[in-house]
Amino acid sequence: MFFRVVSPVSKIALAFWAGLILGLPAIAHAGETYIPETDPLVLQKIERWRDLKFGLLMHWGPYSQWGIVESWSICSEDEPWCRRKNPNYDDYKRQYVALKNTFNPIRFNPDKWARAAKEAGMRYVVFTTKHHDGFCMFDTKTTNYKITDKDCPFSINKRANIAKAIFDAFRRQGLWTGAYFSKPDWHCPYYWWPNFATPDRNVNYKISRYPDRWKKFVEYTHTQIRELMSNYGPMDILWLDGGWVNKNNLGQDIDMDGLAAMARNLQPGLIIVDRAVPGIHQDYLTPENRVPDQFIPYPWESCITSDGGWAWTPDAHYMPARKAVDTLVEIVAKGGNLLLNVGPAADGTWDPGAYHLLAEIGKWLKLNGRAIYATRPVKPYQSGKLAFTRGKDGTIYAIYLAGEHEREIPRKITIPVSILKTGAKVHLLGHPTAFACEESPKGWVVSIPEALASRPYCDYAWVLKIR
Ligand code: GLC
Repeated sequence: MFFRVVSPVSKIALAFWAGLILGLPAIAHAGETYIPETDPLVLQKIERWRDLKFGLLMHWGPYSQWGIVESWSICSEDEPWCRRKNPNYDDYKRQYVALKNTFNPIRFNPDKWARAAKEAGMRYVVFTTKHHDGFCMFDTKTTNYKITDKDCPFSINKRANIAKAIFDAFRRQGLWTGAYFSKPDWHCPYYWWPNFATPDRNVNYKISRYPDRWKKFVEYTHTQIRELMSNYGPMDILWLDGGWVNKNNLGQDIDMDGLAAMARNLQPGLIIVDRAVPGIHQDYLTPENRVPDQFIPYPWESCITSDGGWAWTPDAHYMPARKAVDTLVEIVAKGGNLLLNVGPAADGTWDPGAYHLLAEIGKWLKLNGRAIYATRPVKPYQSGKLAFTRGKDGTIYAIYLAGEHEREIPRKITIPVSILKTGAKVHLLGHPTAFACEESPKGWVVSIPEALASRPYCDYAWVLKIR
């Protein structure tokens, strides 16, 4: 589900004008727009973030008790992801809100998740501190609709401040931390005013007619962000979802300039991702549940579900590890990062399928991580079954993505001439001997010795190192 706020054409126009007004260069590529940051600390941080390549996204909240789509069932839009099990909206909404009174993930053990993520080769985590339904998975002074409220049974647990426990645990494993935060808030009376019905995802009153109410919403949002940026240790990323909250849509202006300045005052260099809102506050782009068709020349990250949904669902089928490795390689070759989602269950556990998937990816990355981390894209990015990356020392990696039934490395692999220069040496990653190469009309044909080819050093994808 990717909700475009404006059409790609108007996005480009918007960015172009924004660029002119701010005096910044806007880059447009394949229908997407990027306006580079100017704060040197943020620029440095984005460059370091580009080295991380692989992160974990987690969607978790009281909705996980029902195994449904996160938040969307209380939104009255006639969309498949808004369907409810009880068609009476008022009854349903009351029951949904009451999920707070039964949410009790007593098996919550963030250290176990953090270790699994680290073993998987993940280098950062982004966690839903608040989704569109407005339930705060952190302690806040702004509302009782939160995990630490006395009516929520988990509030007496020593890890009741879930966001804090997660960020601390992942940081202990050396991962960067990012706060997913929904700008729209369907519980806050300053966003969905109970005075009116709620026909869609947007603010449900006219901001121009009730500017004071909107002002309270802006303050509410800024206060929550201030709490998250003050009380949760060093934060690396602020991942703002709900792109329809932006000043060009119904005047939903939450003063992003002020918000960003406040957040960076507390967390210097903070990466801010105002998703799907072209402009200075979208430090990287976030294509959703897809791998872009081509290389993108600015910072980006694909967020992708591991089992077809963001929130936990019963009987989930996790993607095969081969698919995950392929996806990671393809994304990295095109210059992006992969943010893979796992939805924890209501009792505070992950499904065994999630652990298995992560462990398999980790096994592959342990042997081949050199071809992934801290690399940069190199033309032609991909060609047939090969994907290419370039290490900072100039080493080029050609990653052969094996097909589902391919168990042996091909005896001959053809590498484009632009990648393999005369005199270069080609090895299999971790193997000392260089292979013989022969020039052909299609490129250099590398011969892999039988002994290595018939017993591949790992599953899914094999890396040739070119120097
Ligand atoms: C989609 C979903 C939203 C989810 C987001 C994650 O926009 O609608 O619920 O949080 O994807 O990228």
